[in-house]
Amino acid sequence: MTRPQLPLTRRSFLAGSAVAGLAAITGCGAPAASGPPALPLRPGPMTLDLAGTGARTWGYGTVPGPEIRLRAGELLRVRVQNGLPDDTTVHWHGLAPPNAMDGVPGVTQRPIAPGGEFLYEFRTPVPGSFMYHAHVGMQLDRGLYGPLVVEPRDEPLAYDREHTLMLDDWADGVDEHRGHAGGEPGTPAVPDAREVVSFGGRRYPFLLVNGRPPEDPAVVEGRPGDRLRLRVMNVAADTGFRFAIAGHPLTITHTDGMPVEPVTVDALRLGMGERYDVLVDLRQRGGTWQIGVQPEGRPGQGRAVLRYTGSPASATPPAESRPAELDGRLAGYDELLATEPLPVPTGSPDRVFDLTLEGTEINGQSYPDADPLPVADGEWVRLNLRNTGAKWHPMHLHGHHFQVRTPSGRGPVKDTVAVPSRGGEVSIDFLATNPGRWLFHCHNHHHMEDGMVRLVDYG
Ligand code: C2O
Ligand code: CU
Repeated sequence: MTRPQLPLTRRSFLAGSAVAGLAAITGCGAPAASGPPALPLRPGPMTLDLAGTGARTWGYGTVPGPEIRLRAGELLRVRVQNGLPDDTTVHWHGLAPPNAMDGVPGVTQRPIAPGGEFLYEFRTPVPGSFMYHAHVGMQLDRGLYGPLVVEPRDEPLAYDREHTLMLDDWADGVDEHRGHAGGEPGTPAVPDAREVVSFGGRRYPFLLVNGRPPEDPAVVEGRPGDRLRLRVMNVAADTGFRFAIAGHPLTITHTDGMPVEPVTVDALRLGMGERYDVLVDLRQRGGTWQIGVQPEGRPGQGRAVLRYTGSPASATPPAESRPAELDGRLAGYDELLATEPLPVPTGSPDRVFDLTLEGTEINGQSYPDADPLPVADGEWVRLNLRNTGAKWHPMHLHGHHFQVRTPSGRGPVKDTVAVPSRGGEVSIDFLATNPGRWLFHCHNHHHMEDGMVRLVDYG
């Protein structure tokens, strides 16, 4: 298929996309009369190069998987050919497809057996920065994820280049809890590299940006004076991050792909499953700048590098240098104003659920032994979330966008919201206009596997 044609006036014409574009994985060919040919996506065993050491794991050919990029209103057609020795599915995180295309095994489809195929096919009317990932067990944690970008028909933002940065935590292949997170079961992902495995020495010793460890960081390139657009995505299973670039403020333009009034901050905080789009103005004098990725509540550090004007590679600062901006100003949900709020009517919601998050239970229940949340087509639904536990929970709703309730009344439109620990409260509203059986769950995948899941049911 041909790559979506963009207006020639657009300054950003895919110049700096960090990963391969759609055309690169489909090959260029004439679109079929009936629509675009299906894009093949092949989950299978692979080796990830971690600074010269091969880590055996599962992925879509690369980690992250190939970028899928299309324009608003186009048909997404992806044929998944399962090369794994295990069942799999693909979930389109942040998109609102028809229920049967949502990729939840046992809820929206039968899982794809080893050697089997499944065609995902649906329209993508809403532009934004999304992700795709496997939705069977902890498969996402091994590297079965990739970026999905839906371009608007007319890009309202002016920028010169864009890059996608996917933040991940990475185990050493031996997860004592589940036996299979990040790397093949029972196989150390980094054999004969004890010194690498032991830095950190905990369950997620590696923090990766676009699949690259701090010793061999991903490089974001630009030119002096450029305006960059970064799509920052947290795809980690178990880690919230702060994100900052030394010497460069970040202007937030989108939360989970949905536009907000621009707010300039020093750093971002991203729960698992959250995404932020930011604009970054490069200075006139070039150089090499640290991009710091700091895990919340645990030691360790990931990094990438921003480099412009041909600085020699040897100018790369050492791995331990950490942007001071990581300690600077963040924007809470209260400070973000949706520019396209949900069309929620006035008055009070049709349906309200009070949900207490405690441990990895919701109102004392663990999925699948948990009551569904019944709603009816067309209803305005409110979820009041209260976290009484010691861990934060980034809660993700499939199939819908929701609006965070803030004093302004114009809280950000999102699909994943981090509920702070120890009494943190967040309320969200959504419109039940996409009938089906949809998951609402914590995007800490360990918590999800422990049953921190409910079904929103109006199938
Ligand atoms: Cu990315 Cu069920 O989620
Ligand atoms: Cu959680």
